Amino acid sequence: MTTSSKKTLIDKLPKAELHLHIEGTFEPELMFEIAKRNGVPLRFMSAEDVRKAYQFTDLQSFLDIYYEAAKALIHERDFYELTWAYLEKVSKQNVRHVEIFFDPQTHTDRGIPFEKVINGIHHALVDAKSKLGISGHLIMCFLRHLSEAEAMKTLHEALPYKDWIIAVGLDSGEIGNPPEKFAAVYELARSEGFLAVAHAGEEGSPEYITQALDILKVRRIDHGVRCLEDPALVKRLVDERIPLTMCPLSNLKLKVVTDLKDHPLKKLLDAGVVATINSDDPAYFGGYVRENFVATQEALNLTDDELATLAKNSFEASFIPDEEKAKYKKAIDYLLEQSQVLSAH
Ligand code: ADE
Ligand code: ZN
Repeated sequence: MTTSSKKTLIDKLPKAELHLHIEGTFEPELMFEIAKRNGVPLRFMSAEDVRKAYQFTDLQSFLDIYYEAAKALIHERDFYELTWAYLEKVSKQNVRHVEIFFDPQTHTDRGIPFEKVINGIHHALVDAKSKLGISGHLIMCFLRHLSEAEAMKTLHEALPYKDWIIAVGLDSGEIGNPPEKFAAVYELARSEGFLAVAHAGEEGSPEYITQALDILKVRRIDHGVRCLEDPALVKRLVDERIPLTMCPLSNLKLKVVTDLKDHPLKKLLDAGVVATINSDDPAYFGGYVRENFVATQEALNLTDDELATLAKNSFEASFIPDEEKAKYKKAIDYLLEQSQVLSAH
């Protein structure tokens, strides 16, 4: 069991979330509300029915439901409400900064204009900054099961909104869709000033992680669970301080690991990898950042020092300015000292 002092520390630690698909925050209640408003039929009778269907066997079994649910999102207002609901929730978990993935192709392929999608998400981020004090960046993901030509088209659509998007990413079904498939679109994106990240090593082999680094020139790896199979790769991640945005509850639900106790996060921390804890698709996987921290702490018996390191890593791995990173790290060190003083008495 997680002791209450561990939970208190988790709650008090300022945190950044760096691996979060906005479409994966679509809670069944909001899904029903928006689908009804838009006249979109759902094949479920109730929110409970939807939750019962969340029995996944692998990544693809989840993606099938996730893309289906996204069909309820049509208007700019829907994207705004989806994003706002997430930001409001995590601001209560002491998440101070978010870097949100969105999948434009999931919507543009259904005839929803790119502009509506990004306007809704962006304006929720702007409001969250002023009303909730939470900062945010947007990362535009290409769906890797589609062609590179389609990704190129999406990149061109995004260029007028360049100032609203900090990086490009790569998601969806990994196996059979290696990073090298997207070499040209990433090259153009980087030349246009976008930073780069990519999902790699979630289900795919460590070779996919190496390709993401060497060919796509990513700044961090999303998931990276399978890096442990290649010791030279782990050493590289440590030496080059390439962060991994890990998502323990997602890995459990999608059967990347069979038990959270087998999750590689602690081994990677011990090896010196800049590992972070994130929620991926919290509405589907049973928890937001806090729940991921609590479950992982419990399964891996993480110490206060390790919890603080994870929180510091989340800011170090983020795309905020160095002075901001330093400010958060200092606050976390101070908090840890205070909790040690308190527990000594
Ligand atoms: N899209 C949403 N969640 C994802 C995940 N965990 N892996 C790949 N693509 C995704
Ligand atoms: Zn993901």
